[in-house]
Amino acid sequence: MFDLDEDLAYFVSKKIKVSLSFSNLTYRIPLKGKGGVKKRGFKSTCCGGDRGGEPYVEQHKVILDDLSADVPAGRLVAVMGPTGCGKTSLINALAGRLEAGGEVYGEVLVNGQPRGKSYRALVAYVMQDDVLFPNLTVQETFEFAARMRLPKKVSNASKMKLVDTIINELGLSKARNTRIGNAMYRGVSGGERKRTNIGIELLSGASLIFLDEPTSGLDAFQAMNVMESLWTLSTSGRTIITTIHQPRSSIFKMFDLLLLLSEGRTMYYGPAKDAVKFFSDAHFECPVNFNPADFFLDVVSMDYRNEDAEEASRERIRLVAELFASVRPTFEGGIQKQHRLSIDGCDDCTDLNVVVFPNNPFTEFGLLLRRAWKQQSRDILPIAITVVQTVVVGFILAAIYSDMGSSATPVQDELGILFFVCIFSAFGAMFQALNTFPTDRAVVNRERASKMYHVLPYYVARFICDMPTRVGQGLLFGCIVYWIVGLNPAASAFFIFCALLIVEGLAAQGFGICISAVCPNEKVAFAIAPAITIVLILVGGFYVNQDAIPVWISWLKYVSHLYWAYMGLTINDFAGRTGWETCLNIVNGTCIATVETSGDEVLARLGFDPDHLWLAFVVLIGLMVFYNSMGYLFLRLSKPKTMPIANERPKKT
Ligand SMILES: Nc1ncnc2c1ncn2[C@@H]1O[C@H](COP(=O)(O)OP(=O)(O)O)[C@@H](O)[C@H]1O
Ligand SMILES: [Mg+2]
Repeated sequence: MFDLDEDLAYFVSKKIKVSLSFSNLTYRIPLKGKGGVKKRGFKSTCCGGDRGGEPYVEQHKVILDDLSADVPAGRLVAVMGPTGCGKTSLINALAGRLEAGGEVYGEVLVNGQPRGKSYRALVAYVMQDDVLFPNLTVQETFEFAARMRLPKKVSNASKMKLVDTIINELGLSKARNTRIGNAMYRGVSGGERKRTNIGIELLSGASLIFLDEPTSGLDAFQAMNVMESLWTLSTSGRTIITTIHQPRSSIFKMFDLLLLLSEGRTMYYGPAKDAVKFFSDAHFECPVNFNPADFFLDVVSMDYRNEDAEEASRERIRLVAELFASVRPTFEGGIQKQHRLSIDGCDDCTDLNVVVFPNNPFTEFGLLLRRAWKQQSRDILPIAITVVQTVVVGFILAAIYSDMGSSATPVQDELGILFFVCIFSAFGAMFQALNTFPTDRAVVNRERASKMYHVLPYYVARFICDMPTRVGQGLLFGCIVYWIVGLNPAASAFFIFCALLIVEGLAAQGFGICISAVCPNEKVAFAIAPAITIVLILVGGFYVNQDAIPVWISWLKYVSHLYWAYMGLTINDFAGRTGWETCLNIVNGTCIATVETSGDEVLARLGFDPDHLWLAFVVLIGLMVFYNSMGYLFLRLSKPKTMPIANERPKKT
């Protein structure tokens, strides 16, 4: 089906062939509350002998119960079973992506060896709900994946040809120039998004592909197309393990092997074509002209409609499990032989511990920069919000303080406006980071789980693409406010004013990313970031006299971008100038006696040295680097926690 040209064919044939085996794989989750729950039990091989239908106290929910199977290289394996039987958990466990929280035991071997560091790079994993960048078109999403995932030795033309082939194969040609979209604005349909997800994983050239319900949400024709593509890939040597929900019979025929689960236990594992015979030997006769996949599900599904039906179905499932356990060696003999053959035939299996990224960090950076630029420049809403916010706030501020340049002004007013400017710039940049970073993080976490690229090139590319917004906002706000309000009339002072706002914005943005990366989700980040910023505002030098701040908290001002920006702006505005009034006596809220004050006196009162403008810049740049480095570090560390598989069997519960 895929018309691979020469260098691509070379690349595919050079791929390591992967056979997989797992044994005694058990995954269980502690039940909440003391003493567990009362539940009827089964005979279980893993967790404590015959519990034959008697009520017992269970402390764990067993999701995968002592599963074992060998999967020879180049096979298409279907994992089937009723909803909630553990299909997704099994795929996650095999792909090394079970989220921390439960216990997982057993052994998973790749080509007869434990999974090494490079395992994630060998594996492609299509989750049920994957996240994509909403502002890229289908074509662009594919092109990025092809450039990023296929090695340099595959020519660009071949990469683009493969993109075309996969787009056509998956029936996406009509949608190729449509943006992916999200909840805010419509893009491609759900089915098209799903196919895009599958396509970008197919592009990876991975040797072992896991898919979780790739056909759900597709119509019968598209489902067939997707499965045909997977079948073709398996015939070219890839090992493919996919969960599937209600496949039609023509799809079912494509599977080499079938793993049928119910309640986390194996009901059948063997050649898909022999499953009907197994069930008929067990006196579950599949009617003629009946889709075997539907029939198997009917047999192994629990029926919870009433107690009798539940008991009957539980008994039926127990019977099937026992029958299969007794005939298992007959079914597995052939598979094990093929499995051993594929391990012995594997000549490239020693480098499982070497992680190889397809591109060098500079190429990664170039590709990520292009993608980030497209994504951000098309994300009109945040840009529009920034512009409207800046213009509206700028003009309101300018209207309130528009006469400051024309007469002697109270010092406090001018300090107030400068501090307000600092707060506005800090909040704007921080909220933008809080808004946009979570989508980025979801995509990046998925892509780095596949070892597609390093995090640093991604972070630097994102930072660079954020620059224009920060620079634009600083200049726009400066242009509106500066001259109308009438701050220091020297032209250089205007540019310094804008530059300080820009650097402060970049620091605040790093601060936002830091908080976003460290918080478990968006809501927590949105609650915490403004709260911390308010504390930084308090120690920032305007609202509270610096001497009044307790020592144990006063150090905070040194890490407050607001403090340093305020210091820079006041020095820029006041140093070496005169003409302000300070109020000496207030009666009934009106100032009745004033004295003229020089700018240097104002700075002295604030504790700022007029020669320290450079210091404000240096520290702000330092904070920008610091917050962004921390943001990068937290992003690196905050990848979803997954569990390694312990090689011990679980103890009795
Ligand atoms: N982290 C978890 N915590 C609690 N229950 C879980 C967790 N993961 C899975 N389960 C439960 O395990 C069972 C199997 O889940 P899953 O593997 O998603 O099933 P399937 O994909 O077959 O529908 C379900 O009953 C599900 O609720
Ligand atoms: Mg599932």
